[in-house]
Amino acid sequence: MQNLKFDFNNMFSFNVSKKHGVTENEVEKMVKAVQKAHKHLGDLINHPENRVNLGLEWVKLPFQDRSTIGEIQKLGEEISKNYENLISLGIGGSYLGLKAAQDALCPPYYNDFGPVRKGRPRIYFEGNNLDPDTLSVLLRNLNPKKTFITVISKSGETTETKVAFSVVESWLKKEVGKEYGHQIFVITDPKSGTLRKKVIREQKKDILSFRNLPLLEGVGGRYSELNMGLLHLAIIGVNIKELFEGARAMAKRCSADSVYKNPAYMYATLQTILYRKKDKFIAVMMPFSERLKSTADWYAQLLAESLGKKYQRKIRIGPSGMERWVDDKNRIVNVGRTPLPCRGTNDLHSVHQNNIEGENNKTVTFIRVENFKGNIKTPQTGDFLSGKSCSELIKLAQEATEWSLVREKRPNCTIVLPEITPYSWGELVFFFEMATAFEGELLNINAFNQPGVEGYKNYMYYKLHKEGISRRVATDIRKYPLVKKSKFIV
Ligand code: PA5
Repeated sequence: MQNLKFDFNNMFSFNVSKKHGVTENEVEKMVKAVQKAHKHLGDLINHPENRVNLGLEWVKLPFQDRSTIGEIQKLGEEISKNYENLISLGIGGSYLGLKAAQDALCPPYYNDFGPVRKGRPRIYFEGNNLDPDTLSVLLRNLNPKKTFITVISKSGETTETKVAFSVVESWLKKEVGKEYGHQIFVITDPKSGTLRKKVIREQKKDILSFRNLPLLEGVGGRYSELNMGLLHLAIIGVNIKELFEGARAMAKRCSADSVYKNPAYMYATLQTILYRKKDKFIAVMMPFSERLKSTADWYAQLLAESLGKKYQRKIRIGPSGMERWVDDKNRIVNVGRTPLPCRGTNDLHSVHQNNIEGENNKTVTFIRVENFKGNIKTPQTGDFLSGKSCSELIKLAQEATEWSLVREKRPNCTIVLPEITPYSWGELVFFFEMATAFEGELLNINAFNQPGVEGYKNYMYYKLHKEGISRRVATDIRKYPLVKKSKFIV
């Protein structure tokens, strides 16, 4: 099996100038910080309680028990055989990884053509927006008796998913009758949350109702593809075993301490130098593959929620090395590169103009695929494009884009996939997860929480009179109302 490669030539000053690129000397100066971060992460990973409490359990996911995976695969096959449609409910980490995996690993136009799907259900993602337009059309048109529902929410409290689930559940109940719960599968926290409580209640009444799996403790949504994503992968027929082999191979490479041997460490180190010293604030992620566009969207969430932080992390060490991370309220840092997912060649006719001539405040990460499955050639017409294969053209376009960025002294790097397979996608996912966690270490922030998203939630809860809103939140909302002067609205 050929492995993913990371080509970082164009991040260096010899290609994009000292002003905009990294020097080997600058990498050398980071060695101490890299070693410190490596040791800290290693210590946390080897300390089971820290690993779970701080949200690092995802590093162990590629090494999960094979029998668990086998059982999930069987379950997926059973669901797949018996239903024509699947509605997958979830948002953020409980959605983006599934969509990324499906788009990368299932043939394009999966929903549209029976032979492409090979008898598996059509997939509809919902519960990832409060926009009522899509769900209403879907429920009007699907046959409830032939539709299976998966609902994924770690907390069980997320408004978007909760609302969609309540609507879908009542639709199913009304149309299917008392055994409607047989068509529902829940993935949620193993112990807490209202969804878990509901599962326990429904299972007491009927064991075939609300079957479920745990979203493991210590695994946050955006790092959970190899946990909460498994059932979905099994339903759509992805070779999970191969995907895990890829993730394990990358986990091994990402355990090396040397920055020149560890692709994730190198990625994080170069990005940190460019962010800190050369003002490269924007992270453009540009796969040259239609099928990897959703992977870029997944990475955007991984980067934004993990590294976009207001406060520096303060580490408190308790007995037997137990760590507690708190926000250092005296150190407001407002850090984090801003992700911008795009795709080649499509966005060469859009965002690329800004990448090339707009502010030189970005790094571009390409994902290049060496071998495509499709084999399309232009007919022999006699012009310069005649008889050319699209796979050669897209690779040339990627190389040309690299060249044009280098020409303008714009740092960029390329992740090279031999082809898009479960193995290489497994490698890619683990690579990005480790690179992001390591970047978090270098920035000294907590890469495994997302406290900033609470603001909008609290405001909605307050306006909806949710019980249990704290006095502090209520006072804050009353004290800082939205100011809308009519003079400023035309
Ligand atoms: O990465 C994360 O933790 C978040 O994006 C969550 O996945 C997202 O907010 C959904 O949360 P939940 O699964 O609790 O519904």
